[in-house]
Amino acid sequence: MTLPSIATAVVQWQASHGRNHLPWQQTRDPYRVWLSEIMLQQTQVSTVLGYYQRFLDAFPDVASLAAAPQDAVLALWSGLGYYSRARNLHKCAQAVMELWGGAFPGRAEDLETLPGIGRSTAGAIASFCFSERVPILDANVRRVLTRVLAFDGDLAQSRNEKQLWEHAQQLCPTQDLQQSMPRYTQGMMDLGASICTPRKPSCLVCPLHGECRAGRAGNPENYPVRTRKVKRTAQAWWLLIVMDGRGRVWLQKRPQAGIWAGLYSPPVLDSYEALQSYAQQRWPESTAQSWRELPGFLHVLTHKDLHLHPVVVPVASVQAAMVCEADESCWADAAGWADLGLPAPIRKLLDTELS
Ligand code: ADE
Repeated sequence: MTLPSIATAVVQWQASHGRNHLPWQQTRDPYRVWLSEIMLQQTQVSTVLGYYQRFLDAFPDVASLAAAPQDAVLALWSGLGYYSRARNLHKCAQAVMELWGGAFPGRAEDLETLPGIGRSTAGAIASFCFSERVPILDANVRRVLTRVLAFDGDLAQSRNEKQLWEHAQQLCPTQDLQQSMPRYTQGMMDLGASICTPRKPSCLVCPLHGECRAGRAGNPENYPVRTRKVKRTAQAWWLLIVMDGRGRVWLQKRPQAGIWAGLYSPPVLDSYEALQSYAQQRWPESTAQSWRELPGFLHVLTHKDLHLHPVVVPVASVQAAMVCEADESCWADAAGWADLGLPAPIRKLLDTELS
């Protein structure tokens, strides 16, 4: 197969075997396509579907998203994880309003300058919405391409990554770009998701079967090559759950950087002793005998295992149903925290243990 015929095979296969009914495929509106691409970066299609629709109901266009408070955006993202995506999404909407007059730029090169849009996401938006002849190179497509080409350069080294991008660019369709670019981009994603899987790829039904150098050599699982492994770390977090007599919990907005940035959570302390002295300083009337340590549990993040240890500290009743203070801490009951952006494990903990 020559280079253009690889693109043709992918385009033809996509039309007959690829995914063609996902909601974000029924539009060329860059706002919708961008939103779907950001949501899909670390999250499965089946999970994204519901979030995508709720998000569009609340923010039907880039102007409404840009004008929303960050808390409202994070609340709609709650449970999707990787919250830097939501913070960047919000910043990106504001940048589109301020720098591009409310219309997403039409070229990948310009899209890439916006917050949260990397080279691959820029390629996806530009090819889907504007049929620009630019490649994508997300994890799925990286796998397809390194196998087809038997590209064994270590992708931990930027010169190899750069070279793979050049191959990706060359392999893009050369004809009828208006139709073929969106289909080719989707086809590469679909191949990676359904056929060219990390383990036991279905080479026999792959449209690139005849041309795939790794497939022919019988060793597709050897690709891609990447040496660097991120070292996982572990941390214990003690959660101070201050609860009043009417089931209200004291929540603090987390700092704008780091784990759960910008979300609401009970105060996090490094040790039981730190939790004890924090609680005794702020609520001296609550005696340790009334405290209740809940079973600890593990929450797994990309590079870190969080061992969470919740401790319920009962205090006298507070007045209002939900009071948010200037330091962005607030008392919330179950109805109140339902509307706040909470990390998924905290929401589950509060919902199951406290309401
Ligand atoms: N993952 C990233 N982008 C996607 C898309 N457009 N369709 C399905 N899965 C995807």
